[in-house]
Amino acid sequence: MEGRKVTGWAARDSSGILSPYSFHIRKTGPEDVVFKVLYCGVDHSDLHQIKNEIHITTYPLVPGHEVVGKVMEVGSEVTKFVVGDIVGVGCMVGSCGECLCCKTNREQYCNNMVFTYNAIYKDGSFTQGGFSSAMVVHQNYVVSIPEKLAPEQAAPLLCAGVTAYSPMKQFIGCKTAIKAGILGLGGVGHLGVLIAKAMGHHVTVISSSDKKREEALTDLGADCYLVSSNSDEMKKLTNSLDYILDTVPVNHRLQDYLPLLRVEGKIFVVGAAPEPLQFSASGGSFIGSIQETQEILDFWVEKRLKTMIEVVKMDYVNKAFERMEKNDVRYRFVLDVAGSNLE
Ligand SMILES: NC(=O)c1ccc[n+]([C@@H]2O[C@H](COP(=O)([O-])OP(=O)(O)OC[C@H]3O[C@@H](n4cnc5c(N)ncnc54)[C@H](OP(=O)(O)O)[C@@H]3O)[C@@H](O)[C@H]2O)c1
Ligand SMILES: [Zn+2]
Ligand SMILES: [Zn+2]
Repeated sequence: MEGRKVTGWAARDSSGILSPYSFHIRKTGPEDVVFKVLYCGVDHSDLHQIKNEIHITTYPLVPGHEVVGKVMEVGSEVTKFVVGDIVGVGCMVGSCGECLCCKTNREQYCNNMVFTYNAIYKDGSFTQGGFSSAMVVHQNYVVSIPEKLAPEQAAPLLCAGVTAYSPMKQFIGCKTAIKAGILGLGGVGHLGVLIAKAMGHHVTVISSSDKKREEALTDLGADCYLVSSNSDEMKKLTNSLDYILDTVPVNHRLQDYLPLLRVEGKIFVVGAAPEPLQFSASGGSFIGSIQETQEILDFWVEKRLKTMIEVVKMDYVNKAFERMEKNDVRYRFVLDVAGSNLE
């Protein structure tokens, strides 16, 4: 059943150009939370999807899955939130609730997980993301944004942050010194550096160019910076890393990086290259659970970390994607949705 009318920005075809689009969100169910979107991060997965690069895209498509909003209405059985709360939604808005994954806080791996956009919801409606004036989401897939965290700071944590945090979390409490490699310094990568440093790891950034060296070492606090085409430097790193967080969004040769791992080292492939990687046994790490999403928000406050973002208005969104495609973003665009007067 149709609920309120909202205004989003949608891609219409694989050119990926976004423009205003009006649609109805579903009528508020008993466990639904309706919120006005305040901010929404711009993830490379949005770019993959508006261009029909990874999943089959159904148009018009309103992207956005790093959504922070203010609750406007709650269903009669909502217990987690009240009107006025600042809340967040990441990559998923539903799952079966009954399988082993769902029952063990790993609902992101549920076979019936529902993506925030470009997916069919349980009631048969088509999901649309956070580049929109408002959203309705079941309370189980909504997290609360800590009071001490600015909403625009929180946005990138809801996908990029938890994607890095989820596999790296296993090193919390490790007694030995952990050596980390962050491959690709973009939205996910920059948060990976901050998280790794906050966990006390020794961090080497492996980048495709020399352009981000200064800021990686000074602003983000990385310990080393390496350009991947420098094979002499790469050789020196052989057998040294406990893990690599691989965020590269295009096809790349994994075999160039695997030798950097020490025995029993791990590679977390989170980058969603459109073509298959030249490596058969890669089980990629995939975002993080709802609980971990909540955890990273609290972690951010506790460690006093600062997301590095560029806040822009909705009419800048196409330029934002253009710049993301050119690797020209430091390090996450966050749309000021409420400040863009969509309605
Ligand atoms: N698995 C998951 O759950 C999950 C969650 C979020 C995102 N993702 C995926 O992770 C990837 C990264 O997302 P993002 O939002 O962080 O993207 P992003 O901001 O565009 O950053 C990607 C980084 O990769 C490097 N890179 C870009 N083009 C490259 C090229 N042609 N060759 C080598 N390196 C290149 C760049 O870093 P340097 O300049 O340092 O080389 C760039 O900053 C995307 O594929 C996205 O879809 C997956
Ligand atoms: Zn399930
Ligand atoms: Zn994402």
